Amino acid sequence: MADYLSIGLSAFILFIPAFAANPAAVITGGRYPIDLGRKFIDGRRILGDGKTISGYFGGAILGGLIGLVLYGILVPARGTVLMDYTQGIVGAAVSSFSLSFGSLTGDVIGSFIKRRIGIERGGKGFLLDQWPFVLVALLLLFVFSRHFFSIVYMNFLAIPELLIVTPPLHRAVNIIGYKMKKKDVPW
Ligand code: CTP
Ligand code: MG
Repeated sequence: MADYLSIGLSAFILFIPAFAANPAAVITGGRYPIDLGRKFIDGRRILGDGKTISGYFGGAILGGLIGLVLYGILVPARGTVLMDYTQGIVGAAVSSFSLSFGSLTGDVIGSFIKRRIGIERGGKGFLLDQWPFVLVALLLLFVFSRHFFSIVYMNFLAIPELLIVTPPLHRAVNIIGYKMKKKDVPW
């Protein structure tokens, strides 16, 4: 039981760089659409005005830095987490930035799919607003930080947990963002 709790908690807490990148992109975003305003062959925007260069890089860098601070704090709190999982400060940075850049890369892919199936910018994407960012964050972690990935996420609990917990969490954060007038819609 305690083991499951620990696996589940680690999977969630160490994923914070990927989570944090999204609200960070809301704060830094809004400038220079990634698709440069261009349309795809279906006549719709490739990505839309909700995916900007300032949001992508601002969010990913801020999310990565937040993660790095968090991983640093976890060292004294949980023994040698940083050494065990990430093998030092460089490893911690690679892991944290893989998660944050992966998160916002997945977010872009989600928007690309949303546009192709006719959902306008800002429209509700059902799982397309959440699962792509989780999956691509995990993918980049797998590619660039295999050791960390294998310790924290290569088990039967961690990835299903993230896929289940993220949609309601995402919704809750967006409601807060809406109330704080940072977002135009509560999803
Ligand atoms: N944002 C940004 N650049 C990004 C991601 C997000 O500028 N790469 C900002 C935009 O201002 C965006 C807001 O964060 O409107 C909220 O992000 P999100 O909900 O992902 O975008 P939507 O506007 O809902 O657009 P889409 O339907 O394409 O997801
Ligand atoms: Mg949205």
